[in-house]
Amino acid sequence: MSEIWPITDLNDIESQCWRSMVSGSTNRRSPFHTVAISTIYQGKPHLMTVVLRRVDAEDRKLYLHTDARSPKVGHIQKHPHISWLGLDPDEKVQIRFSGKAMVHIEDELAREQWDRTGHHSRRAYMLEPPGILLPERQELAAPLKGFHYTDDESESGFRNFAVISCDVDWMDWYHLHHQGNLRAEFHYEGSLLKGCNWLSS
Ligand SMILES: Cc1cc2nc3c(=O)[nH]c(=O)nc-3n(C[C@H](O)[C@H](O)[C@H](O)COP(=O)(O)O)c2cc1C
Repeated sequence: MSEIWPITDLNDIESQCWRSMVSGSTNRRSPFHTVAISTIYQGKPHLMTVVLRRVDAEDRKLYLHTDARSPKVGHIQKHPHISWLGLDPDEKVQIRFSGKAMVHIEDELAREQWDRTGHHSRRAYMLEPPGILLPERQELAAPLKGFHYTDDESESGFRNFAVISCDVDWMDWYHLHHQGNLRAEFHYEGSLLKGCNWLSS
């Protein structure tokens, strides 16, 4: 039986799920550092990988960074409900979330997260908008390719930087296990845990 995932108590599972997500946001080696999200556009799901940038476990909030000009920003503004999926393949644990997302551009949260964004990561926001048709494969210009820009110059990227925050209203934990798979779900209202159940798997 896994040592990370005590199975007897729903509250322990709930706490461990959030601890794992916090670790995903702070530790590049965590299996939850990259997660998948799904947005809805024109009635169809759009699935993509993102880096989990911040987790406020007590507030039940998840955060990612993206380009303010990227299609997903418009999709989320139109249809704010998104879902998230994290997987620890070694522990065979999947954690899913859903909740209402909000886009932050040039506000206090965006500034806070931008100030924590490293020199190299800022480059993504100094480029042309994502998703533009190119006539051919494109190389970055030399200064950007070699990260040859000052911190002051990187500030030009701030206007293209967006934080997506998500207020989680549902979490689902699934543990694939040779003695029998386990599954539990958790419902939230605001930051409060409003219900939790074992589910058949
Ligand atoms: C390992 C990995 C991590 C990624 N992290 C992010 C991310 O944190 N934010 C982001 O906007 N896109 C990230 N992407 C790219 C997205 O998966 C997606 O393809 C891209 O943002 C375009 O989405 P859109 O056209 O729906 O806006 C990542 C891709 C990979 C392969």
